[in-house]
Amino acid sequence: MPPTFSALKGMADVLPPDSARFEALVAAFANHVQRAGYGLVITPVLESYGLFTRVGESTDIVKKEMYDFETKGGDHVALRPEGTAPVMRAFLEHHPAAPWKAWYVAPNFRYERPQAGRYRLHHQVGIEAIGTDDPDIDVEVVALQAGFYAALGLTQVTLLLNSLGDAQCRPGYREVLLDFLRPKRDQLCGDHQERFEENPLRVLDCKKPPCRDATADAPNQVDHLCDDCVIHFERVKGGLTALKVDYVLEPRLVRGLDYYTRTTFEFAATSLDAAQNAIGGGGRYDGLAEAMGGGRTPGIGFGSGIERILLACDAEGVFLAEHVAPALDAFVIDTTGGDMALALTTALRRVGFSADRAFDNRSMKAQLKAADRSGARIALIVGTDEREKEAVTLRDMTTKDQELVSLHDLPEELRKRLQR
Ligand code: HAM
Repeated sequence: MPPTFSALKGMADVLPPDSARFEALVAAFANHVQRAGYGLVITPVLESYGLFTRVGESTDIVKKEMYDFETKGGDHVALRPEGTAPVMRAFLEHHPAAPWKAWYVAPNFRYERPQAGRYRLHHQVGIEAIGTDDPDIDVEVVALQAGFYAALGLTQVTLLLNSLGDAQCRPGYREVLLDFLRPKRDQLCGDHQERFEENPLRVLDCKKPPCRDATADAPNQVDHLCDDCVIHFERVKGGLTALKVDYVLEPRLVRGLDYYTRTTFEFAATSLDAAQNAIGGGGRYDGLAEAMGGGRTPGIGFGSGIERILLACDAEGVFLAEHVAPALDAFVIDTTGGDMALALTTALRRVGFSADRAFDNRSMKAQLKAADRSGARIALIVGTDEREKEAVTLRDMTTKDQELVSLHDLPEELRKRLQR
């Protein structure tokens, strides 16, 4: 009979050994960003619907993909589609000292059409640095992201960089772009023919061929930056060059959220299919706090999809499960049906070893198979003989060598063999 329930479409269970990679990736990320002064921030997975509409009414994330519903109390709420708005909300709510450097790991929900590398539930690791518009923090954030991918062993990664201007120069550019688009209205995709006036920048981000063709020689924001934005961008580019973080200028990089100002960036894994090769992206969002009803609060950060990073690791053959999954030290096989397996695993765990055992009083053969499957480095076999001698047969699972070791000497012998 087929099972009654399965995970929802576009949402995956993460089981061992993949979960070990997931865990190791988060640990590596935590270590990487904590060394730069970022602290873990955990925000609820459910927020007011209105919080997310602030990230961009003209984006697919808000318009089409939100998991939102009314609670029993009549509140309109939404599952988090992205991590920046909740962190900014927390900043405005709790007033921590600025600059506030936060990191997170969190599930995000987007009602997308599931396909390879694009899911309805994905997880992001990310950082946000809130409360300063010093271009040096832009450099720090981008360099941290580049450094993280390098630490995982990824090499086929390209950093795309752009500036989207600010409240001073964006309105002027918007007019220039609208003047360019209006005569081409009929050539745009159906969706954008209707609504390109809402946010003309979205047309540049549209992946559909009609919009691509019609905007091939569209004016770019970088050519219409105000002096302050030019100075900021020059400083960011100079800082990245000084840190030897390679980048490619991509004047058409708009990104899928409306809150971006000035520095915007995305990391493309060239080992992946182009449609889903963004393993992470981010940018500055100096107007977001005000859109949420807060005071002027600049900020910058990035989010990176764990599932996509792992796909890129698969493609490059780095950070694989066998490199990162912790191996068990010992697996206890008790063929006497007594309580040695229970006593021994407990005693070993107490003195710091990782140990597991077989259950259900299975045959020696079945227990050895279980030991093999467990990935343990050493099997400890207890038969009647060993029990009488207060000893175990220690079997090296790699070389298959066996040796009788007294229970008294066992911890020392294990330490020696495991090189601890
Ligand atoms: P985003 O570009 O929408 O930005 O998502 C960040 C990353 O999450 C993407 O580059 C991708 O790796 C991953 N991702 C997004 N959607 C999916 C999906 N449906 N399936 C699998 N992976 C996905 C943000 O979310 C911003 N909050 C980033 C940011 C932080 N900007 C400033 N601070």
